[in-house]
Amino acid sequence: MTSAIEIVWRQALKTFDGRKNVGFKLCLKNFDKLWNLMNKITAEDVNLNKQVLDSIQMQPAPMCVIDIFENKDLTISIFILKHGVTMPMHNHPGMHGFLKVISGEVQVNSYTLKTNDDHRIKLNKKITALRHRPITLHSNSPACVLMPRDKNLHEISCIEGPAAFLDILSPPYDVGDCGNGPRPCTFFKTISSKLCTDSADIIEEVKLLVIEGPPDFYSKSLKYTGPPLM
Ligand SMILES: [Fe+2]
Repeated sequence: MTSAIEIVWRQALKTFDGRKNVGFKLCLKNFDKLWNLMNKITAEDVNLNKQVLDSIQMQPAPMCVIDIFENKDLTISIFILKHGVTMPMHNHPGMHGFLKVISGEVQVNSYTLKTNDDHRIKLNKKITALRHRPITLHSNSPACVLMPRDKNLHEISCIEGPAAFLDILSPPYDVGDCGNGPRPCTFFKTISSKLCTDSADIIEEVKLLVIEGPPDFYSKSLKYTGPPLM
């Protein structure tokens, strides 16, 4: 029998096939189907058991990452945050993403940049963004979606941990050998904010500063032990 994670993987391949090619057109029907399949994924489907989750709290890294799959078009991984840890605000340049919580509880703060900026944003640059209303996600919540522009930045706090989420990103980050790749991960911090009442979903307009990756936020790799992807 085909495993649930294999079904998700096959649908992700179909949805994002050729994603890096110029002129790629996203099929919304496939995208919605993938979102629906993601919504059903559980910790059991990827063999994330209590033993693994307990070991997370015992080791020093604030976050553990389990890489499940990567090709030129997409990555599938599991991120596990220790209780109380916040994954610092970062972007996903030009990428689509799904985040499905499978254990614990997280709060996601998402931001949309007001400018159409280049994928590579210079250190110390100040940039304006809209902060969306925070959402709390647990294993019964649908997958959170980020778009190439809308809600492309986020910070994720583990409020009941350890918290694990399945992540699909397309196309993958591409940092390059000397940090000069086309899709690096850039980190931000809020330096000022003002209330925004234009819409129910947007709560603030914020000024962000591009910062170096926080040195105390690092991750440990764990091996994927769930059903194989054929
Ligand atoms: Fe992210």
